[in-house]
Amino acid sequence: MAKADASKLDWNNLGFEYMDLPYRFTAHWKDGKWQDAGLTEDATLHISEASPVLHYGQAAFEGMKAYRTPDNHIQLFRPDRNAARLRNSCERLLMPVFPEDKFVDAVKQVVKANSDFVPPYGNGATMYLRPLIIGTGGVIGVHAAPEYIFTIFAMPVGNYFKGGLTPVNFTTSQYDRAAHKGTGQAKVGGNYAASLLPGENAHENGYADCVYLDPVEHRYIEEVGSANFFGITKDNVFKTPKSPSILPSITKYSLLYLAEHNLGLGVSEEKIDVHDLDQFAEAGACGTAAVISPIGGLEHDGDLHVFYSEKEVGPVTKKLYDTLTGIQFGTVEAPEGWVQQVE
Ligand SMILES: Cc1ncc(COP(=O)(O)O)c(C=O)c1O
Repeated sequence: MAKADASKLDWNNLGFEYMDLPYRFTAHWKDGKWQDAGLTEDATLHISEASPVLHYGQAAFEGMKAYRTPDNHIQLFRPDRNAARLRNSCERLLMPVFPEDKFVDAVKQVVKANSDFVPPYGNGATMYLRPLIIGTGGVIGVHAAPEYIFTIFAMPVGNYFKGGLTPVNFTTSQYDRAAHKGTGQAKVGGNYAASLLPGENAHENGYADCVYLDPVEHRYIEEVGSANFFGITKDNVFKTPKSPSILPSITKYSLLYLAEHNLGLGVSEEKIDVHDLDQFAEAGACGTAAVISPIGGLEHDGDLHVFYSEKEVGPVTKKLYDTLTGIQFGTVEAPEGWVQQVE
């Protein structure tokens, strides 16, 4: 694949696609320590055919973004939270942790080195960063790897769901994403491999993605594809599912805070019954890639439940979107410690 050329990009029409940028950060875990850490240019990894990542899915990753502000600075949104979540994911899969402060520093190095690819301020486009850690080295039994590669690569992106702030519809899945005591709380490769078929089924039926229900009763909402669910009740409470098998979304926890402190809403993390959607005036999917995508309707057992509208974003969802993205792009004052300047 050819290296991307920033001068040829159409910033207003970026999709959510991989691009091979000039620089990535790479470090190798060998002989019990991280070594050879720094920026590299080669986008290809050379690993043993017996690497545990290939057979047993020993892989964890993160997703985060860099934002260009109107005064042309570049900033990160809560990168310390991604560092902490990657630590949890690594601990769950018996992988060595890349130190959290060094993680944030490495992210900044990648953004700076590729800064031509951080989209201009103005249309919501950002630089997406993908930190990744994989188990390598030759092992054939089911064991943790003797060696690891940690890498962070980046690319400019536009909307994840095609609609942007236009609502899209979802359907519930017959499949489970993760078990309650499994790996749902960790951002690990296997969870996503398991989601490919249900996601494809949803697309084939004309939906943006599927909504997972709890793996015990298939009754309580878990996640919206690779984003968390939230609903705004008719009496102005921001509600989001509580479950041991969903990914603790940094966006979701940020919205819980902003809903309460900036918008004056009630907030609650609790079980959300898929048969009790009438309580909501609005609903959305939230995550780094999805930002906030309004959910037009949710299909379950043949019935489509429409929340606010299939055509327009609801007023509270819009306010949450404006507040969140304002903080991310530096036009709304951020709570202490939420944004870090890169340059
Ligand atoms: C399964 C899943 N849920 C939720 C999220 C949203 O998390 P965050 O807001 O930290 O990006 C993601 C994306 O990272 C995800 O993959």
